[in-house]
Amino acid sequence: MRKNIVAGNWKMNNDLSQTESLLKALQDQKTTSNAEVMVAPTFTNLSQAVSTLKDSNIEVVAQNMHFAENGAYTGEISASMLKSIGVKTVILGHSERREYFNETDELLAKKVDAALAKGMRVIFCFGEELADRKAGNEEAVVGSQIKNALFHLSAAAFRNIVLAYEPVWAIGTGETASPEQAQDMHAFIRQTLANKYGEDVADGVSILYGGSVKPANAEEIFSKPDVDGGLIGGASLKAEDFFAIVNAF
Ligand code: 13P
Repeated sequence: MRKNIVAGNWKMNNDLSQTESLLKALQDQKTTSNAEVMVAPTFTNLSQAVSTLKDSNIEVVAQNMHFAENGAYTGEISASMLKSIGVKTVILGHSERREYFNETDELLAKKVDAALAKGMRVIFCFGEELADRKAGNEEAVVGSQIKNALFHLSAAAFRNIVLAYEPVWAIGTGETASPEQAQDMHAFIRQTLANKYGEDVADGVSILYGGSVKPANAEEIFSKPDVDGGLIGGASLKAEDFFAIVNAF
């Protein structure tokens, strides 16, 4: 059975003391949710977050990593480095990485391989831009992002893959995909997986929605049958809002 997951992507926000305050506020939240909960602080605060949250049910995940094991890649972080501080999951392919850091499907395929080879779990992000949707090309774009970066993997590898559909036009804009638009795309994504790997693999993969999820709209989006959770940006920076979203499950 696939899991419900709510992950907070803090992006480039929160210095050390702000991170400590938010982690403390998160620990004070009450929940009866069945969802797995994750937060992704910036690299410099990952170690701190792992140690602060070690006795909680909140997993600390990374926002990015490099594909190489080590070497002359100034400024980069490897899967082994993340693992060595207790981080077991990494977000890859976020649209901000694709847009501002020129990350391509081909590069992301290498990053996915490197993370899986180290036994890490990957939250793989993708999504169409507004122009794609206006032109009716959203399924073609999303289908090719998934195929190019993931379809070289074995069926077994999908046990460690979580997908995150984040339409670029809904990220940080306040404009959310409607629950129906999210469901339609998630059903398409699951069918794309089923066509390649069979129904069992497709049914087992959690597909998260991201893009302006808020306490006010989370429940309706998460009620859709193929939406297994959310990747939350802005609203994950306030503990009460983030847990209001977690508690939508
Ligand atoms: P917002 O929730 O701020 O729209 O960001 C979504 C996102 O990019 C999560 O990765």
